[in-house]
Amino acid sequence: MEDGTKMSMQEFVNEIYCGNHLEILERFPRGCIDLTVTSPPYDNIRDYDGYSFDLEGVIQQLYRVTKERGVVVWVVGDSFLDGNKSLTSFKHGIALQEAGFKMYDVMIYAKESPKLPHKRRYLDAFEYMFICSKGFPKTVNLIMDRKNKQKGVTCSSRTKRNKDGTTTKVKNPLKIKNYSRRYNIWYYLTGYNHSTKDEIAFDHPAMFPEKLARDHIYSWSNPGDVVLDPMCGSGTVPKMAHLMGRNYIGIDISEKYCDIARKRLLDHRNKIKPQSHWEQLLDLNEKERKTVKMDSYFSS
Ligand SMILES: C[S@@+](CC[C@H](N)C(=O)[O-])C[C@H]1O[C@@H](n2cnc3c(N)ncnc32)[C@H](O)[C@@H]1O
Repeated sequence: MEDGTKMSMQEFVNEIYCGNHLEILERFPRGCIDLTVTSPPYDNIRDYDGYSFDLEGVIQQLYRVTKERGVVVWVVGDSFLDGNKSLTSFKHGIALQEAGFKMYDVMIYAKESPKLPHKRRYLDAFEYMFICSKGFPKTVNLIMDRKNKQKGVTCSSRTKRNKDGTTTKVKNPLKIKNYSRRYNIWYYLTGYNHSTKDEIAFDHPAMFPEKLARDHIYSWSNPGDVVLDPMCGSGTVPKMAHLMGRNYIGIDISEKYCDIARKRLLDHRNKIKPQSHWEQLLDLNEKERKTVKMDSYFSS
């Protein structure tokens, strides 16, 4: 990258950049990113090779580089110190909204294997996933993999509640589908062999489970889109974006983590899986493999 000059689209995609994200992002053109999936360092929970970041600065840059109706997924938790939860996640959520993003959803990343906390507290088992959009999201592919307990049952007479509290019978029989869209709490197994099978990635202290990156990339982008992680650590988001046929951009300030990310990508280079592969992973049969585009969903 040449110093100080803005870059054209083709020049900057499919690379891992080592450096401070503020300096790198400011060289990108306005409105060039379809989706960002990222997780910042927070509350000095981890050392991350000694680096820190400027919250308002990076949010401002993310707003600038995000396309109209593009999405930023921001994953963050809270620490516990001197009997006090930090509420850092809330501060980050408000900072994202104040920068101009709509808070399209507040989702939960629930960990199936949480770490043991302070003896007199319940187990810390989740982080927040803020789904921020620059206007109304342009891409929403809802994952339809929640099994309906009453699948196949036909409800011949249903009732609809009216405004005045009375009910009216609805005549059309409704067959309950096998699968419906997910709830906004997503559960993942974390740790060795669960987050990833790439051993090298465990040299990073706080990587995403690959499935978390996969599910957000699937939900908020399409093949060919540009997916960014400006704090990409071990390179989970770039790797999954590449495998799913998106263009990736990864940035991290640590040379050590950039090396891990590049090695992971090299191992998976050109192993792009067709979109259908990701739908198969959701355990659905041909008929059930449905993604619902936002526009058609809301107009129906
Ligand atoms: C929570 S980790 C991200 C882990 C990543 N999601 C993964 O799957 O490996 C946060 C990362 O932010 C990086 N970071 C901190 N300050 C930064 C800055 N100013 N510019 C770029 N990266 C930064 C750290 O080096 C660290 O790897």
